Parts: sequence; C-alpha cells; structure tokens
Amino acid sequence: MAGYLVEDTRKVTTHRLVEMKQQGKKIAMLTSYDYTMARIVDGAGVDVILVGDSASNVMAGHATTLPITLDQMIYHAASVTRGVKRALVVCDMPFGTYHVSPADGVANAVRVMRESGCDALKLEGGAEIIDTVKAILAAGIPVMGHLGLTPQSINKFGSYAVRAKDEAEAEKLVADARLLEEAGCFALVLEKIPAVLAGRVAAALRIPVIGIGAGGQVDGQVLVVHDMLGMNEGFSPKFLRRYARLHEVMTDAVGRYVEDVKEARFPNESEQY
Ligand code: KIV
Repeated sequence: MAGYLVEDTRKVTTHRLVEMKQQGKKIAMLTSYDYTMARIVDGAGVDVILVGDSASNVMAGHATTLPITLDQMIYHAASVTRGVKRALVVCDMPFGTYHVSPADGVANAVRVMRESGCDALKLEGGAEIIDTVKAILAAGIPVMGHLGLTPQSINKFGSYAVRAKDEAEAEKLVADARLLEEAGCFALVLEKIPAVLAGRVAAALRIPVIGIGAGGQVDGQVLVVHDMLGMNEGFSPKFLRRYARLHEVMTDAVGRYVEDVKEARFPNESEQY
C-alpha cells in the first residue's frame, strides 16, 4: 500500500492496540468525519480514527455535541469507513442513544455497527452506564470508554474546564476506569484532566489509555483533526498543537480563485474544451 508512512500496513485491531501498549509503542488517534479526510488520515499512518460526535461542532456548527443524531453519526461513520484501509475506526455513540436502557443501547449500537461498517464504539461515562457497556460488549461489539471531560454532560458540568482536579472526582475517575477495564473495554479516552492523574490511570490499566489534554504519561494521543490542521482559528486550548495553518492556506487559495474569476483569468485556454 504505497503512501503509508508506517511499515506495518496490516489492519489495526483492538488486540493490536493492547499489544502496542505492552510493547511501549504509542498510539496515534485523530478524528475524521468524511471519506476524503479519512483517506488522508489513514494514509498518513494514524492507528485509530475516531468518528467523534465533535462532528456536531466541527461539521454542523452546533455549540455542543448534544444535537447530533444516530442517523447523522451513521452517515459520517459510513463515509469514513469507505476511505480507510488500515486504521481501526471507532464511532461515538451520540447523546441519548445509550442512556434509556441497556436494551435500547444495544439496539442503537447494532445499528451503528451494521450500517456504518465501523470497528468499535465509544461511550462517555463510567459506573452510570456500566450495565449498557456490558450489554453492548455481550453483543460482540468492542467498546472504548471515555472519562474526564465528557462533552455530552456539558449541561451538568457547566463549563469545559479541566476535570478531576479535586480528590473525590479523581478517585471516582480511577474507580470508573477500573470498572470499564473489568467490563471488557479495549481502550479508554481521558479528556482534559491533570497529567499526573492520567499517568496514574495508564499505569494501573492493562488496556491503552489515549489522552486529549491529559499529558504525555499515557499510551497515546487523540486530537480533533480540524483543530490540529489549523482549520479552526477560534479554538486554542493549551493542549492543542497545530501542525498546519490550513485556515490561512485555504482562505488564500479561495481568495485567489475569486480574483481570477472576477478578472476573467480563469479558465484559460488550456483549461477548456
Ligand atoms: O468527539 C470527539 O472528537 C471526541 C474526542 C475529543 C476524544 O470524543
């Protein structure tokens, strides 16, 4: 598979991710929500592609992740899986689709797997949703956990500030992480928590811990691809490293196109039939 920056071009599995942790190999994860971006991200060697419910913000312009629906997540995930050869594709279960009952959660999870072709699902929460996590796992569907700042609970938290800074919340997070591992989750995302706490969880668990705003003592990192490519100038949290300035590059390109059209410089003779 020409174009891959990694030597091992085998399809990434949940088991491979656990092996990577055992071998001390870091895991690179990024979001994607469409076919074209997923092809680029996969081709560049990312191990895990997350079809995040951040699509609600990034693709649809909503202020939170709450409005995105199951059908919309399936559409995004199916577009992504069509572009991916190597990476493990994980799809977020959106708000309200796994909270009613374990049976309802399994029915929704089965729909996402069947209709999108993704490899695994991610659910936000610990003890509160553990029965549903177990039921989805019992249906043969791999589950990635997500603790710390869980954006679907923004109305409960009241802000996007760093979570688990006090001891009680930190202890609950550690207990939830153990619960998710014991239930059979294959990996865990920790979002926006102190680096020392994230390192403690990663050291305590056998499954890989992937951080976002959780420091470097974990087993891998995840970012929203539009943020790390610099397409979203309005979002600059401390944890974000921008690897490109695509907002500038794209604005410049579009601006030059507009000028060329207005000045009748496009198309030229070789660009017509
Ligand atoms: O939806 C998302 O993009 C996420 C990541 C921030 C982990 O859940």
